[in-house]
Amino acid sequence: MHHDALPPVSWRLTLDALEAEVRRRTPLEPALGIVLGSGLGGLADHLADVTAIPFSELPGWPAATAPGHAGRLLLGHLAGVPVVALQGRFHLYEGHPAGLVVQPVLLMQRLGAPVVLLTNAAGGVDPAYGAGTIMLIRDHLNLTGVNPLIGPNDERLGPRFPDMVDAWDPALRALLRRAAQETRVTVEEGVYAQLLGPSFETPAEVRMLGVLGANAVGMSTVVEAIVARWAGLRVAGVSLVTNPGAGITGQPLTHEEVLAAGEAAGPRMVSLVRRFAELLPTT
Ligand code: HPA
Repeated sequence: MHHDALPPVSWRLTLDALEAEVRRRTPLEPALGIVLGSGLGGLADHLADVTAIPFSELPGWPAATAPGHAGRLLLGHLAGVPVVALQGRFHLYEGHPAGLVVQPVLLMQRLGAPVVLLTNAAGGVDPAYGAGTIMLIRDHLNLTGVNPLIGPNDERLGPRFPDMVDAWDPALRALLRRAAQETRVTVEEGVYAQLLGPSFETPAEVRMLGVLGANAVGMSTVVEAIVARWAGLRVAGVSLVTNPGAGITGQPLTHEEVLAAGEAAGPRMVSLVRRFAELLPTT
């Protein structure tokens, strides 16, 4: 991993350039930033007055490579609420430095969003989580072995040793629960573990994750949450369990299965996130 290639001290200038490029195209001031995980990009169809910017048109951003990830920054309105959404994201398993993976959430903050909602597709570690389970993220395990904040810090952006207690904002989680109730979407709540990928876990690893207290496992989100908290953003997260974790059913795991389950749960995820956006001013 070249995790030291883009240390925090380099981020301000990068963000200046990114912000300028977005502002050349739209003055929209988002109240919420949303990162759309694998198969959840359909939320993009529910945005009004959209400005869509392909990743490759933003300075320093490579095109998205993961199948099921469109790779666009979207600014528009969701249920009347101004939002910025990332359709697709950068992953460590693509070989990107952590300092690139976290740029989107920092850009969302630059554009004015005080809150980010991170979504992902995940494997169920909890044996009770079947495909289609929606889990609100209460806490995380960073099992990537990397931290995006390694290297010289920029104290103007965030502290050297950021606190991670309540990194996953309890008030936002309560709002997500309320949004779920009002839209009659069933949700669980648990701990998300990020591993590097791109190989799926072994059955032994999934058993290990259960022992460690994880309820779901995936290949994203945690490094983004760490930097978002460091920068002072409020963070909420939703995992869509697209498959039972490796070894639970004995079936092999495939990315196609992940995408199909993401699409099947799309409407429930959209209802939940729309209502959450509408309720946001009440926190
Ligand atoms: N493991 C890791 N990441 C995933 C999985 C999984 O089982 N499903 C979707 N993303």
